[in-house]
Amino acid sequence: MKIFTFFNCKGGVGKTTLIILLASYLAYVKHLRVIVVDMEKPDYRIRRFRESEIEQLADPSTPLARYASRNQMPDPSTYYTIQESGLTMYEYTPESIRDQVDRIADMKCDDEYDVALLDFPAGFAKGLPIYRLAEEGILDAVYVPHALESQERRSACRTALGLATDGEKVRLLWNNVDANIIRHQGHRLDEGEREVEFLKDYEVLYSPTRIKHFAKAAQETDEKCFVRTTVCWPDRYVRMWCPELIDLFEEIVNLLQL
Ligand SMILES: Nc1ncnc2c1ncn2[C@@H]1O[C@H](COP(=O)(O)OP(=O)(O)OP(=O)(O)O)[C@@H](O)[C@H]1O
Ligand SMILES: [Mg+2]
Repeated sequence: MKIFTFFNCKGGVGKTTLIILLASYLAYVKHLRVIVVDMEKPDYRIRRFRESEIEQLADPSTPLARYASRNQMPDPSTYYTIQESGLTMYEYTPESIRDQVDRIADMKCDDEYDVALLDFPAGFAKGLPIYRLAEEGILDAVYVPHALESQERRSACRTALGLATDGEKVRLLWNNVDANIIRHQGHRLDEGEREVEFLKDYEVLYSPTRIKHFAKAAQETDEKCFVRTTVCWPDRYVRMWCPELIDLFEEIVNLLQL
């Protein structure tokens, strides 16, 4: 089984969004056995998304139910597994972190799933489970999604360097969550890319894919758009709002040899 994560020490860069989308792509398009391990205790939002989506499917007036009636939806028995397995900051002890790392290592050895996607909370302390997993070679790859604003990209560099130093395969991924700031401050993508170029010397690669701002598509409440869902791969909307996601996910499939 392969273990993959989108991780950045800094919050709000799209980790959870990208993990949910990737899980849906791998499960419903590639028909792989997928487990998402939600480590964002105590929030555990992913199972709640699933529950709310199942409720929406039961109400024909919701956009998700209307999408379902026009498109082939997966059978609920094939929904990917969501496991909750986090630690709050207050529970971080060498023993509890060890325990969590061991559990993931065990999962890697058994054959129940093809791929596990780990969703960590943001966090700067060295010694967190993600760094242990990297050090011990348990992760197969990490993408560091980050926004373009200069502080954001510096923070992403620190995350990527930390993980690469621990021996992990790391790639940077532009995720344009801050499209409005960029427009306002006039940052250029090329300028950003030059600034992080030094990372190549530390074996941190860039993903050739740049995820653009998918605008209203991120808002579940919008009539026409719901890109992020755990119960289907919303192909029509992804193609309309952010086809780059498909390139990214294909790149990950190849990288992980799934
Ligand atoms: N490319 C994008 N375009 C537009 N909105 C996006 C994009 N990626 C993520 N978002 C939005 O940005 C917000 C933060 O995303 P998300 O919760 O996935 O980040 P996170 O890194 O998991 O945050 P946290 O550190 O709090 O766990 C969400 O509202 C999400 O829908
Ligand atoms: Mg998150």
